[in-house]
Amino acid sequence: MKYFYYITILTVLFYSCSTDCTIKPGQIWADNNNVHINAHGGGILKYNGLYYWFGEHKADTTSSAYVGVTCYSSKDLVNWTDLGTALKVSDEPGNEIEKGCILERPKVLYNSLTNKFVMYFHLELKGQDYSAARYGVAVSENPEGPYKFLYSCRADAEKYPCDFTAEDIAALDTLNPDNYRDWWTDKWFKAIEQGLFLKRDFKGGQMSRDMTLFLDDDGKAYHIFSSEDNLTLHIAELTDDFTAHSGWYVRVAPGGQNEAPAIFKKDGTYWLITSGCTGWAPNAARMFSAKKIFGPWSQHPNPCVGEGADTTFGAQSTFVLPYKDGFIFMADIWRPNHPSDARYVWLPIEFSDGKPVLKWREQWNLNE
Ligand code: DGJ
Repeated sequence: MKYFYYITILTVLFYSCSTDCTIKPGQIWADNNNVHINAHGGGILKYNGLYYWFGEHKADTTSSAYVGVTCYSSKDLVNWTDLGTALKVSDEPGNEIEKGCILERPKVLYNSLTNKFVMYFHLELKGQDYSAARYGVAVSENPEGPYKFLYSCRADAEKYPCDFTAEDIAALDTLNPDNYRDWWTDKWFKAIEQGLFLKRDFKGGQMSRDMTLFLDDDGKAYHIFSSEDNLTLHIAELTDDFTAHSGWYVRVAPGGQNEAPAIFKKDGTYWLITSGCTGWAPNAARMFSAKKIFGPWSQHPNPCVGEGADTTFGAQSTFVLPYKDGFIFMADIWRPNHPSDARYVWLPIEFSDGKPVLKWREQWNLNE
């Protein structure tokens, strides 16, 4: 028992910040080389006593990918060491991850069955703007890479959502796209809810854009992404080795136009924070909760409060990191005219009446 106590204390100390533990949202965040961290739309993996921050490398003048997915490591979440490029984009013309493609929101999980690290990201093929709407998968033997690109594709081709009933499937037959040429009408929204775009993409696979990954306590992992022209989120279960979708998925908030999903679980409740769809411009965050990952999900008011709440403090969600007994909300302040200068907003998630609340802080201490 005593041994367990010391191990627990040591583990807490090891993962805790002990030097200058100040987080300064929205400011330049220098790495070990005194260069602003270049890991946008990112996420964090905790593995073997270290935090690994993966994100999009952004150039000064374009948001397209000319380097790939970067990786930084830290013992304390404040001081980060640049470990270079975890997944490099390719020089080969026509390669799915050719330099100049759009490669966004990479996230990494460790798979304990294969002892490999699995990366998912949003991929748009070079020269095709945002029309491909694919996810990409890459694997590595080491957390920092190099990651080997496996494939990219749309999601769950020829699979219905696992909660679709026989009636839901039959109702798809009645949806004739010619009857819904006018977008944003009540009639059109109802058809979207029923699966107008799900039906459109059934054969070739569902669109897959803004995304995150989530590893549940039972070892099952999920890919959560904006689908159906960014109108509807999908939550797709991964195979045991995490390198593919298992084919089981659900739709969340059909027609709700959610991007930038970031998820966490507290006391048996799943919380999902998202944004609306306004390109690089910030908008008000949205929040959902569920008792089971496959729902039903219910929507709550914007978790942000105070000045700046209606624009998520100028930022857009990307990840929620469990830290000590709590959670850190991570978001990006995009700078589309100078992409590499985009900033990071990390805020502690507070709880009021059991619901997550986000408040702006000029700075805060990880030990508070
Ligand atoms: C919003 C998304 O959240 C970003 O990742 C990026 O795809 C921009 N849209 C592009 O406009």
